[in-house]
Amino acid sequence: MKTRILFVCLGNICRSPAAEGIFRARVEQAGLSERVEVDSAGTYGGHRGDLPDSRMRSAAARRGYHLTHRARQIREEDFARFDRIIVMDDMNYETLHRLAPSRASAQKIYRMTDFCRHHPDWSYVPDPYYEGHEGFELVLNLLEDACEGLLTDLQREGLL
Ligand code: 4NP
Repeated sequence: MKTRILFVCLGNICRSPAAEGIFRARVEQAGLSERVEVDSAGTYGGHRGDLPDSRMRSAAARRGYHLTHRARQIREEDFARFDRIIVMDDMNYETLHRLAPSRASAQKIYRMTDFCRHHPDWSYVPDPYYEGHEGFELVLNLLEDACEGLLTDLQREGLL
């Protein structure tokens, strides 16, 4: 059976599609692609159908990640389908707790920075949308760190 991971941010055009692309690359490198399903979604649906933001696509491509996800809004079925729903910031966390249809589904919600090993000062992944180039690099640094930690945790828990 596959372990299903969903990354969630606000617009699903910057942070969560980058998390999806990075985590998928880590899973492939580890030879575990058959065992994992990875997806991303936004709490806001206004960018539905869009590719990730061009600034995020360029920054990610420079690190070898090619982001092709099309934005979508989270839906109720996601709480049943996915084993872990990993959010980027407090606003996403609160929105998903409001949307979660049951206590069991709320227990699937995690914060991305909880998986970081090398960024102890960050408790959220900051929204880079209104930031410059450095904002996107910081987001990618946090996401790479968290994706490593997440993979290790899932392996340790026997989920991969
Ligand atoms: P994301 O960034 O949540 O990382 O995809 C944003 C993208 C779009 C908007 C806000 C944040 N927006 O307001 O349109």
